[in-house]
Amino acid sequence: MGSPNHDSPSFLSNKSSKIFVAGHRGLVGSAIVRKFQVLGFTNLILRTHAEFDLTRQSDVESFFSTEKPEFVILAAAKVGGIHANNTYPADFIAINLQIQTNVIDSSYRHGVKKLLFLGSSCIYPKLAPQPIPENALLTGPLEPTNECGLEHVNVGSGKEVTIKELAESMKEVVGFEGELVWDTSKPDGTPRKLMDSSKLLGLGWMPKISLKDGLIDTYKWYVENVIKQ
Ligand SMILES: NC(=O)c1ccc[n+]([C@@H]2O[C@H](COP(=O)([O-])OP(=O)(O)OC[C@H]3O[C@@H](n4cnc5c(N)ncnc54)[C@H](OP(=O)(O)O)[C@@H]3O)[C@@H](O)[C@H]2O)c1
Repeated sequence: MGSPNHDSPSFLSNKSSKIFVAGHRGLVGSAIVRKFQVLGFTNLILRTHAEFDLTRQSDVESFFSTEKPEFVILAAAKVGGIHANNTYPADFIAINLQIQTNVIDSSYRHGVKKLLFLGSSCIYPKLAPQPIPENALLTGPLEPTNECGLEHVNVGSGKEVTIKELAESMKEVVGFEGELVWDTSKPDGTPRKLMDSSKLLGLGWMPKISLKDGLIDTYKWYVENVIKQ
């Protein structure tokens, strides 16, 4: 697999590169597939969970042996909020370790040039310094966490938003005129998660869509494509 140095092959250099997007129907995976399609990539390998269970080691081995993807995006995972993670911690860790181990190991064995692993800001210590730099990993007590690959890079807008502000923005975007009620019996997670994205900004990346504009666009899409159909 690719090393962290930036001479390793780029996902973007050849539009016919064979790219396996694991978890392509999920929130993150589907956005990545849409972007690849807009960019003109023609050789994406996509399998639903029902077609191909990534927890099955021998199935993953034979898939890599037959398909021989050049690049892998790992956006498949058992995903849930704090309540689900607290209720079924063994399921979450067992399934996600199986998926990650199988895909990373097969990628290595079958000569994948580069693997992009989608982690989560939950990998950082609960009380990490804000904004959180990449080197805060494993420096304190953890929230339920994911292990990540050779090099990890934060992706964030640099702006902080509280859950209350987010809920109030949603209320405004959807035109909800009722009262917001806070259920304080539910567990609190990490109090703050402001990502330090200076590493990625240094590579020339910039966020293009504000949170508010993203909410407006997503709600518009939902009304047109889900409610009206
Ligand atoms: N959502 C976010 O804002 C966010 C932010 C940062 C990082 N991430 C990370 O990105 C990754 C994906 O998150 P997400 O929000 O996109 O999750 P998601 O919407 O729940 O999608 C997960 C995908 O994984 C697939 N999957 C689950 N178990 C599988 C298995 N055993 N075999 C094959 N496919 C399987 C699911 O297929 P089915 O639908 O068919 O079950 C689904 O397509 C996670 O590691 C998450 O921590 C997410």
